[in-house]
Formats: sequence, structure tokens, C-alpha cells
Amino acid sequence: MSDKKIILTGDRPTGNLHIGHYFGSLQNRVKLQEEYEQYILIADVQALTDNFNNPEKVRKNVIQVAIDYLSCGIDPNKSHIFIQSMIPELAELTIYYSNLVTVSRLKRNPTIKTEIKQKKELFGDDGNLVTYGFLGYPISQAADITAFNANIVPVGEDQEPLIEQTKEIVRKFNSMYGDVLVEPEILLSKTARVKGLDGNSKMGKSLGNAIYLCDSEEEITRKVMSALTDTTKIKKDDPANPEVCMVGYYHDLFSKNEKDTIYSECRAGARGCVNCKKQLAKNICDYLEPIRKKRKYYENNIKLVEEILMEGTKKAKETASQTLKRVKEAMKINYFE
Ligand code: TRP
Repeated sequence: MSDKKIILTGDRPTGNLHIGHYFGSLQNRVKLQEEYEQYILIADVQALTDNFNNPEKVRKNVIQVAIDYLSCGIDPNKSHIFIQSMIPELAELTIYYSNLVTVSRLKRNPTIKTEIKQKKELFGDDGNLVTYGFLGYPISQAADITAFNANIVPVGEDQEPLIEQTKEIVRKFNSMYGDVLVEPEILLSKTARVKGLDGNSKMGKSLGNAIYLCDSEEEITRKVMSALTDTTKIKKDDPANPEVCMVGYYHDLFSKNEKDTIYSECRAGARGCVNCKKQLAKNICDYLEPIRKKRKYYENNIKLVEEILMEGTKKAKETASQTLKRVKEAMKINYFE
């Protein structure tokens, strides 16, 4: 047993990962794997709570997300990458924890509340939006976290209420059945969410405003050319405000050394938007080039990706089954042993 602290984190495989994920969590995970034992879960079961009518999409993205991880520098010798549905222990833990959470508590969970509201806005309120599985996904997330005895869960702000819910479950379990589960700490990601090319505070597939780690140079350039700029600037040599321009915003992320010049030229009306966008597109392409290269390698070696997932899953299963054993003992459902 290593005495490193344990991290559990993960993503829903509903699409390729974009630069918002990169700055918000992937970069951080690459660092954390040096110091911690890191489990990274590809949450296909959780993805299905929202996409049960589209299993193809989830299936396809499990491999895609794994490739994104590996391309960004998640090292399978340091992090265990695994598939949630391949660990049935997680489903079993979810059932046992279900007794410790009231339906009204789930409905009051701020993340769940927001998601229900979004569903209503998208699909109308026909009374059939909230399935039992969807409402219960915070419980399954508690199973994900506790199964691996995670001490630390690095996530974005939107996930905070879910981790809070996990802590409640842990406390309730431990006070009722004995000290079995580890109570996790949340590690809030320091980077604020990366805004979309259109200025939207959220970057996402449905909004069409994201740059994906797998985008080709042509796609990146096309997207950057359509980014939102300072709308008060009409002519090429009008002065403008880079602080309200998405191109300025992205230069801050991708053009660190040139930023001061870019911003002052922009303010002085000494830089046209077209050239400014071309420069940004090039910098983003250069920045993502090593990731794209590694991605090509893994795309051509899918067998290797599958082996990495199988290896990670094997390790995750060992840990989860030990936790399940302790849980069942504590709950007195360990028959004939
Ligand atoms: N809810 C997370 C997301 O939507 C994915 C996830 C599932 C997760 N289980 C987790 C994150 C456990 C942290 C810990 O991205």
C-alpha cells in the first residue's frame, strides 16, 4: 500500500474535451499525478442518466475522452484511468447509500436544481423529465468517490454541491454503521471557467463556441476568425478595448509573451482584428500541436488505449471491491463468509 493521498476525479463521456477542460482540470491532473495516487473515472453510467436514449454517443466518447486524457499527459503509469460501468461494485454501493439520502434532499441539491431547470427550458415541463436515475446520480457520485477512499476530489465550482452531498452520506454511514468510509475534501479548481468564443461564460458543444483538443488547424482558425470582438470597433484602425474582446481574452491564455504589445496596440488602434485573429489562431495551433500529435498516435493505436483502460479498470476494481466488502460487513450483509 502506498501512503500517498488519493484523488478521484472524472468526466462524463458525452463529447470530446475542449480547452476549457484543459485549463480547468486536465492541466491540474497532470500535475497532481506526480504527488498523489490518482483515479480518473470515465463516468459512462452517469452520462447515461442524461443520455439513456443515445448509448452510441456515450460509447464512442469513452474512447475519445481516454485519448484526450492520454494526449494531454495523463500518464497511465501514474494515474488509473477506468470505466465506471465496468466496476459493478459502484452500482452496489449506490444502492446501499440510497437509504441514507431523502428525495427532498436530492431535489434541494443546487446542481440538481439547476439541471432540472435547464431540462425544463430545453424540453418543456411535461412531468417526465426527472427520472429516478437522474435524481439519484449524486448518490452514485458518492459511491465513485468513497469506493476508492478518495481524500481529495478536484473539481469545478458546479460540482461543489455534489461533493457536499457525498460528505453527508459518509458522515451518516459512519455514524450509523461504524467508521468505514473516508470523508473527502474538495479541491476547487483555481482557474475560472474558460469563456466561449462567443463570449458566453460557458464553453460547450451545444453552444458551438468551443475549441476542442482534437480540432484540426483549419477548424481552430475558422473558429477564431468568428470570435466575438469589441463591437464598438468599426474600422481597422479604430481604437478598441481588448478586455471586452474574446480575441484579447484568448491572447491572454495563449500569447503570454506578446500580450502586453497586443493589448497596447489594440487600445491605440494600431492593430486590425483580422491580423490579430490570425496571430491568435496560430498561437493556439502551436500550443495544441503536441497534444494533437499524441492524439494521432493513440488514434492509430486504439488497442493500446483499450489496454490502458483495462489495466486501470482492473486496479480500480480491486480497490472498489475491498471497500464494498467493508461496507457489507458494517451493514451486516456479509453472509456465509
Ligand atoms: N459529475 C462529473 C461531471 O459531470 C463527473 C463525475 C462522476 C465525477 N463521478 C465523479 C467527478 C466523482 C468527480 C468525482 O463532470
